[in-house]
Order: sequence, then C-alpha cells, then structure tokens
Amino acid sequence: MPGHRCGITLCDAGPRVRAVDFLEVLAETIETKDPSIHGHSRRVSFYADALAVRAGVSGADLRLVRVGAFLHDLGKVGIPSDLLLREGALDASERRIVEQHPLIGERLVKPLGLHPSLVHAIRHHHEWWNGRGYPDRLSGEAIPYAARIVSIADAFDAMTADRPYRRALPRDLVLDEFAAGAEVQFDPELTREFVALLESREGEADLTRLAEQPTGREEPVRAALSESTGGQLRVAPDPR
Ligand SMILES: [Fe+2]
Repeated sequence: MPGHRCGITLCDAGPRVRAVDFLEVLAETIETKDPSIHGHSRRVSFYADALAVRAGVSGADLRLVRVGAFLHDLGKVGIPSDLLLREGALDASERRIVEQHPLIGERLVKPLGLHPSLVHAIRHHHEWWNGRGYPDRLSGEAIPYAARIVSIADAFDAMTADRPYRRALPRDLVLDEFAAGAEVQFDPELTREFVALLESREGEADLTRLAEQPTGREEPVRAALSESTGGQLRVAPDPR
C-alpha cells in the first residue's frame, strides 16, 4: 500500500520521506547528545567548503564535499553518550567503540542511496595520510579526496571551538598543529592550502568567526542535501 512499508506510515506523500529533513534531524540528534559540539556539523561543512573552493573544487563535487562534511559524524548517534562526553582519556576498548562511528554512519546512510562520495566522506574522515587512522588504515591518495578535506575541517573545528574542558587553541598553535600534521595526519597539499587560507585573512581573521556568523552558507548546505538526493529519500521502490 502506498505510504506504508513495514507497517509504518512514512509520510502523507507516499513511500518517500524528505532526505533533507531526515538527515538534518539525525545530525542535530548527535549534537543534543553532546551539547559541547553544538554547531559542529555546520561549521565543519563551512570550513570544508572554504578549503575545497581554495583547492579548486567546484560544482557538483563542491556540493558533495559540503554535504559530506555536514554528515561526517552521523554515526555518533550509535555511540554511548558517556563515552562522547568523557573529559578524560578513553581506554583502548572504549576507543574502539568510539572509532566505530564512521562505520555506523556509513551503515545509516547506505540504504538512502546517497552519492558514493558522501558515503566515503563519512566512512573515511578519520583516516590518516600515513595510514595510522581508522577504520581502514588507508593512506595517502587512497583516502577519498572529500574525506581528506573533511579531516582537515574537522580537526580545525576541534582545535578552535571552546569545549567545557578546553579553551580554543590560539591561532599560532593551530598553525603549529597543521604544520606538524601535514604528511602525518593530513594531505600535505590540502594542508598547505588550508594554512594559506587561514593566513590570508588579515589579523584576527580566522574562519571560526565567519562560521559563527549567518552568512547565507546554511542554505547551500540544505540545498546541497536536497540536490544530492533529488530532494527525496527513496525508501521503497516505486509502485509499478
Ligand atoms: Fe568523527
């Protein structure tokens, strides 16, 4: 019966729900689990967009980067809150649990028929350039390009957003972290571009201030989500 699959009415319009709303709600759900990361998805999307533009990415590829960045941590919905909120270090078994989140995220979005680049950005955003990351220990250019961009944007937000247990790093230390992380954690070429981007904004200018301001960039995130799924989320085959 149209509108009903597995006994659940999905929406009035039939066996489809709006992917935009569904994915946004999921992303927001994660941020309610850990209020200290409020706005993280949107900021990472903003930084990834800025880096991608600088690196010459455009058009549909740019939209995929932006959306992949927005969705990158979706899998944290499946991680116990006490681990996400823990201020101290995690032990090895707890770390293994947290490190499941890229795989959980991939599992969540896979049935939605999203573009493979989005799925890769979710699964691979914690891979390291030197192969010491997770979940697949990919290295160098074997790491999907969108995931390499998201990795830098994600790290930048982790360094520059205030957390209850740590103040944002000062600008000099952020630049030091990226200098040390190039060719270890991050794609060296993209790191160079990102550092140049940070340095190109005079004086106080860092991207964090821009990301916190309404710039009209939120709408493109929404538009890109809409575009990547045709505005609709297929949850069941069309009735023939
Ligand atoms: Fe993550």
